[in-house]
Amino acid sequence: MLNVDLVKLVYFSPTGTSKKVAAAIAEGIHSKIEYVNLTPPAANTIEFGEFRDDIAIIAVPVYAGRCP
Ligand SMILES: Cc1cc2nc3c(=O)[nH]c(=O)nc-3n(C[C@H](O)[C@H](O)[C@H](O)COP(=O)(O)O)c2cc1C
Repeated sequence: MLNVDLVKLVYFSPTGTSKKVAAAIAEGIHSKIEYVNLTPPAANTIEFGEFRDDIAIIAVPVYAGRCP
């Protein structure tokens, strides 16, 4: 089992599938999860704190063969 204090789940997920998949992975790590939702337009102004001793899981859908 991984020993981390916090898993940051950063996602852009308009219809929820990317979030669902990433959340299932994060829950398997058995640590605290912080959800960072980049989907709403207001997320453009989110200020990120420093990532230190955390794991970040970043999830986005594929559109036309590419990640947005
Ligand atoms: C406009 C559009 C283009 C897409 N292009 C692809 C693609 O090229 N390859 C693919 O596997 N899925 C493609 N998809 C499917 C999405 O990646 C898939 O439904 C994804 O799970 C949506 O993520 P979300 O539920 O987190 O929003 C596309 C979906 C949309 C709406």
